[in-house]
Amino acid sequence: MKKSGAAERAPGSGLRAPGAETAGAERPRILIADDEQSMREWMRLLFQRDGFEVMTAADGVAARDLVTREYLDVVLTDIRMPKLDGVQLLKAIRDLAPDAIVLMMTAHWTRDSVEWQDARELGAEALFEKPFRDVNLVTMQVRQLLEARRLRHENTVLRQTSAGQGFAGIIGRSPVMVEMFSLIETVCRTNSTVLISGDSGTGKELVASAIHKQSLRSQKPFVAVNCGAMLETLLESELFGHVRGAFTGAEKDKKGLLEAADGGTVFLDEIGEMPKAMQVKFLRVLQERKYRRVGGTEESAFNVRVIAATNRDLPKQVSEGRFREDLFYRLNVIPLYVPSLRDRAEDILLIAEHFLSKYTQEMGKSIDGFSAEAADLLKSYSWPGNVRELENVVERCVALEHETRVRPSSLPENLREGRPATLRPAAGSASFDAAAAEIDGFSLEQHLRDIERSHLELALERADGVQTRAAEILGLSFRQFRYLAKKYGLK
Ligand SMILES: Nc1ncnc2c1ncn2[C@@H]1O[C@H](COP(=O)(O)OP(=O)(O)OP(=O)(O)O)[C@@H](O)[C@H]1O
Ligand SMILES: [Mg+2]
Repeated sequence: MKKSGAAERAPGSGLRAPGAETAGAERPRILIADDEQSMREWMRLLFQRDGFEVMTAADGVAARDLVTREYLDVVLTDIRMPKLDGVQLLKAIRDLAPDAIVLMMTAHWTRDSVEWQDARELGAEALFEKPFRDVNLVTMQVRQLLEARRLRHENTVLRQTSAGQGFAGIIGRSPVMVEMFSLIETVCRTNSTVLISGDSGTGKELVASAIHKQSLRSQKPFVAVNCGAMLETLLESELFGHVRGAFTGAEKDKKGLLEAADGGTVFLDEIGEMPKAMQVKFLRVLQERKYRRVGGTEESAFNVRVIAATNRDLPKQVSEGRFREDLFYRLNVIPLYVPSLRDRAEDILLIAEHFLSKYTQEMGKSIDGFSAEAADLLKSYSWPGNVRELENVVERCVALEHETRVRPSSLPENLREGRPATLRPAAGSASFDAAAAEIDGFSLEQHLRDIERSHLELALERADGVQTRAAEILGLSFRQFRYLAKKYGLK
């Protein structure tokens, strides 16, 4: 007999390349809770053969721990178990993962018993009497319930996307996005860790905050941390806090971001950049659900939902030894891939119109749409900077346009010619560093020249080509302006 309380887990399904599999196609995850080992093993085989990812627990407490930590679609639990019985487990699941499908099995109850009525009221979906008359009925019913739940989620999503233009503030109605919305709808009411991957500017942070807002933690804080922006020691004290005297300069006790996010969600942006030593420390926190301030002795409970994001190929970083495999698996409980904008071309105009109305309102202009030619240009462009680039382009159009429709002439030149912008579009925004750092051999000087040049161009456009006016806009003397214009060959 295995040690009771041990939570066993089937071997993982291997590293997944971001986007190689959309999350909707993931194998459903089931937890089998039963104190009888032979029953656990038999059910494991049965469900594995049916395409499930199976976890097992030998008692109620181990099962509850797994529900706290892992994402589960289905829990199949025995009723009489040591430490915590099936009904108590069911109660806990209703708080921890209200969307999970819970089924009970027993050798002692009947459908008429009061206990079963109670369990039903708590949302148990079926009762199987042991020994099973036909095991295939069990897997079949689980499949049916999963399908019903999938349809329910899809309906919620479709209702929202068809009424408005998107889901939870994320604009889009392309099939790939609707699929992602369904997944958000499925995971938001759990505590599971989510790993969001996708190119720069695709909307990863927006997705993370949408998950938080739809979750049971929505009334608690959403705290974002950029793991790439800080040195290891600083990141550690930012996350965990520190006590006075922990290091030179630590003059007072300081609360960490995990404490500030207590009960809410922490968003670990650029997780691939997390220093290696920090990865070890953070993994320990995820495993033990406890942490300590730097230099402190007191332990605090870690009650935060973790959403991490990366625009790197994390599995590749794992295989190159730059990211810890164990941490990757801990984080990648629910992988969520945000597709690049060019892979959801149907959404381009919808999102562009959303930004158009945002910026016309902000700037007090009256522009009611894009001309057909401008719309075609937007649709056919490749959008290497994704939604962020689109937002910047639209903002610029609104600033420049004098007509009531956006014409091609208000679009940036590179877009009219179908070439990517020389300068990453996010200049000035917080994530620009990350975008820029992706370019090999990135040179600061070249970058500054690009900025200078694009400012000159923009000023010239705003000044309708009048150089003295453009110089004024930039706060330059005419001579300075003329010098720079010549340097960059501007007319
Ligand atoms: N589908 C969308 N609908 C509306 N706005 C969006 C959408 N996707 C992204 N945005 C907006 O585009 C901008 C960029 O998105 P966000 O910051 O979430 O991208 P990101 O994937 O985190 O980028 P990075 O990898 O560079 O950090 C934000 O202002 C965000 O609100
Ligand atoms: Mg981001």
